[in-house]
Amino acid sequence: MADTDDNAEFVPDFDISKPTIARVYDATLGGKDNFAVDREGAAMIATYVPKIREASQDNRLGLKKGVEYVARQGIDQFLDIGAGLPTMENTHQVAQAVNPNAKVCYVDNDPIVLAHGRALLADNESTAIATADLRDPPSILNHPDVNKMIDFDRPIGLMIVGLMMHFHPGEEPGNWIREILDACPSGSYLHMTDFANTGYPEQVAMEKSCIQALGNGWIRTPEEIEAHFQGLPLVPPGLDYPTRWFPEEPDRELIPVEDLEEHQRIIMMGVARKP
Ligand SMILES: C[S@@+](CC[C@H](N)C(=O)[O-])C[C@H]1O[C@@H](n2cnc3c(N)ncnc32)[C@H](O)[C@@H]1O
Repeated sequence: MADTDDNAEFVPDFDISKPTIARVYDATLGGKDNFAVDREGAAMIATYVPKIREASQDNRLGLKKGVEYVARQGIDQFLDIGAGLPTMENTHQVAQAVNPNAKVCYVDNDPIVLAHGRALLADNESTAIATADLRDPPSILNHPDVNKMIDFDRPIGLMIVGLMMHFHPGEEPGNWIREILDACPSGSYLHMTDFANTGYPEQVAMEKSCIQALGNGWIRTPEEIEAHFQGLPLVPPGLDYPTRWFPEEPDRELIPVEDLEEHQRIIMMGVARKP
């Protein structure tokens, strides 16, 4: 990992009495970086969404497909906001499998992610991790570790994956995205996943259980999700469920949405290019 000296003495202050998004998500994926309170949160969600693990894996599928696609378009630097705890096939591993020279800067507002990320990335000079908050775009754009890894004069793969559902519409999270996109040059990509609201009961169950477990986790209509792309043109097929998203295979026969399994209709994904 690149030298992230100003935080070298950083000792995270974990509150293990309350579940956090990063740790509950880790628990849903079967990870070990979580505490009893997080596992209780994950178990509570599972009472409403029995296939929560598969739904989380579906979000990871959306992450992998988007990163592979963007890397294949020649993007060699990724800013992954809401990085989460390390798991299988992390962004740097997916991007560097396409382009070994790809750089990745992870950003998360939960200090536990920094602690675990540093252990994973200790030997990777092309990857950094910064503690900063999407709610405060300058905390990301002016972060020294972000600026060491990401060159804002060259196209960037901006990722906001598995994060938007945690913001209430009243917070107007699109404004934060616009501020970050404004700092990214032409030719950059925005890759996003979010909880879908297309009229299926499992989507409503996801929202209800997440709000109960975490206090947030709202579903959005495709129009609401698309609005977060700030008018950038989405690459075909536009917004879709990860199992149906094949931007490089326009003629591929797709499983009809009504025949997808319930957990495959929780997440929608999209990738847009800044002209
Ligand atoms: C559900 S996880 C998603 C992890 C990964 N991106 C994925 O899709 O698999 C959401 C992550 O966003 C982080 N997060 C929540 N609010 C945030 C904020 N305001 N700014 C930055 N990160 C945030 C959480 O700590 C958590 O690690």
